[in-house]
Formats: sequence, structure tokens, C-alpha cells
Amino acid sequence: MSIKILPMTIQDMEDVSKVQKETFTQDLCEAHSVLLNRFEIFGQYFHVAKNGEELLGYMIAFPWKLGETPVNNQNFPKMLPTPDCFFIHDITLLPAARGTGLARAMIEKACETGRLLGFKTISLVAVAQSGNYWDKNNFLEYLDITPEKKNALIANYGQGSRLMSRVL
Ligand SMILES: CC(C)(COP(=O)(O)OP(=O)(O)OC[C@H]1O[C@@H](n2cnc3c(N)ncnc32)[C@H](O)[C@@H]1OP(=O)(O)O)[C@@H](O)C(=O)NCCC(=O)NCCS
Repeated sequence: MSIKILPMTIQDMEDVSKVQKETFTQDLCEAHSVLLNRFEIFGQYFHVAKNGEELLGYMIAFPWKLGETPVNNQNFPKMLPTPDCFFIHDITLLPAARGTGLARAMIEKACETGRLLGFKTISLVAVAQSGNYWDKNNFLEYLDITPEKKNALIANYGQGSRLMSRVL
């Protein structure tokens, strides 16, 4: 069976929730209803890594405003920000699927989508559990945020979280 990166479908959502629970610390997991809300609004940009029918991982990414982050585990606001970057909200793989190049392929897929949408920057929150993974993937901490925003980021995504960005 060959491993493929495919657009996420609504039928994938149950498995997406399961993989999220298996791979993220509990404080970072989002309610299934929040994942569905994300999918309803921006699902066209989400991808999954699959081996046949088995979901190995996924990537949730969407247009957003640089310097801002969506609130974790909360539905999108009614008024979405005017986007100027592509934002990776989640990228994750089951442990058995790591170290295979799939993560890099999903990151590249996000970059490709961001470029197609005309953005010059990709951004994300590097959470503590991802260590220096994003530094090694050429992301730099985005420092142009107020202390209030930095505090809100830590309160929402946990101690050690950093807003990061990379030129597309
Ligand atoms: C982040 C993740 C998708 C990377 O997948 P992967 O298949 O291990 O990544 P790659 O094959 O692209 O890169 C492997 C390299 O990254 C390093 N790496 C992977 N996860 C890391 C982590 N949490 N901390 C530090 N380094 C990490 C590996 O040690 C390896 O380093 P090397 O090339 O020097 O040997 C995977 O670790 C994962 O699913 N983690 C849980 C979810 C998560 O934290 N996601 C990121 C936040 S959105």
C-alpha cells in the first residue's frame, strides 16, 4: 500500500480527532466540534497522510493574519481577520510514521498552497512539545508582537510557545 498526501475530507474527521489525541498533549487538543468548525470554514486547504484507509497524520492550515493566532480549542470568530499569511495550525504524524519525510512533504504542501494563494509568509505557533523542530525547518521567531499578545499566546498554547514565521 502506498502512502499518499491527500486533501482532507469530512469522512476523515473522526480519525483526525483520534490522531490529534494520540499525538498532542491533552492541553493542546481541540474538541471535535472545533475541528469541524475549522473544516467547514477552511477545509479546502487541509491535508491528510494516508496509507490506504489508515490515517497516519494530518495538516491543518489556513489563511490568517501575521502576528495573530486563532484561539486554540475555540471556533473561529464570526469576523475572520484580513489574511496576509498562510498559517499552519496543526501538523502531526503518528509515531510510527515519523522520520519518513512525510512531515516535510506536508510542510511543503502548506508552503505550496500559501504561495498559490499569493502569500509571501507562512506562520505557526511552535508549541513546547515540538522542541526546536521549527528552528531546524528554517522558521524564525516572529518578535513583532506586543507583550499582551505574547502573554495571550502562552496562556492559550502553553509555556514555551513561540510565534514563528518563514518567507515563502
Ligand atoms: C513534528 C512532527 C510532525 C515531525 O515529524 P518527523 O517525521 O519526526 O519530522 P521530519 O522527518 O521532518 O524531521 C525529523 C527531524 O526533526 C526532529 N524532530 C522531530 N520532532 C521533534 C521534536 N519534537 N523536537 C525536536 N526535534 C524534533 C527529529 O529529531 C529529526 O532530526 P534530525 O533530522 O536531526 O535527525 C512529529 O514529530 C509529530 O507529529 N509530533 C507531534 C505533533 C507536534 O508536536 N506537531 C508540531 C506542532 S504543530
